[in-house]
Amino acid sequence: MATALASESLLGRLARIARQRGLDTTPGPINDGPSPDEPGHPAYHHRQRVNAALAKLNRAVPPRYTNATADMPQVARWASEVAMNPTTADSLMLWGPTGTGKTHLAYGALRLIAESGPGRFGVVAATFPDLYAALRPGASDPVERERTMRRVMQTPLLLLDDLGTTKDSAWTEETTYRIINHRYNRCLPMIITSNESPIALPNLVGDRIASRLIEMTTRVEVSGADRRKVAR
Ligand SMILES: Nc1ncnc2c1ncn2[C@@H]1O[C@H](COP(=O)(O)OP(=O)(O)OP(=O)(O)O)[C@@H](O)[C@H]1O
Ligand SMILES: [Mg+2]
Repeated sequence: MATALASESLLGRLARIARQRGLDTTPGPINDGPSPDEPGHPAYHHRQRVNAALAKLNRAVPPRYTNATADMPQVARWASEVAMNPTTADSLMLWGPTGTGKTHLAYGALRLIAESGPGRFGVVAATFPDLYAALRPGASDPVERERTMRRVMQTPLLLLDDLGTTKDSAWTEETTYRIINHRYNRCLPMIITSNESPIALPNLVGDRIASRLIEMTTRVEVSGADRRKVAR
């Protein structure tokens, strides 16, 4: 007996003592992977993507719309489609009378997309009048203007607010066509808002742009009272 004990390995001895004390020594899986707070864990990287996207979005959002929400089911649905399939999702056109909350919904939708933690996030947001002002000949040197144009055409997400508030000219039509056609060809999602009905699009922007917008957008009517009047 003494010899048997002397030849027993240390591990064997520990196992025997554990058994005597009723402890289960069956080996289980060793979990030495990263915790959700550590690099390497999917939750950690998801959180990093959300934070990076929100930081980019916050730089593009005017203070009035900081807390905007996509509180309309069709708009929230569109945002989740873009979050899931950014290369195949439609664009969104929000249309309706002034003050009904189109810009609010647009920024809310962008926030939902950022919060989904997309792999690639970037956003440019502007009104059509501000866009034309930044791009018009003489606004800055031609290289700078072309760089702005490229950003608008290529950004993963584009919000262009207030279609139809600028008097149309050959130059605005050509500029709008370049942007819309580029994004149409590459299936890059955008949000357009307008006070005008989609039926008015051909008159507003010409047949070629209107035709592309009709094909590429999900159109959502935003109706109701002017919230600016109601709030007073
Ligand atoms: N769902 C909402 N909850 C709270 N405030 C809202 C909501 N929607 C809009 N608002 C507020 O109502 C005002 C008008 O909204 P918004 O600017 O989005 O209207 P709009 O439809 O874009 O108007 P316009 O056609 O004149 O550009 C803003 O002050 C906005 O913050
Ligand atoms: Mg608006």
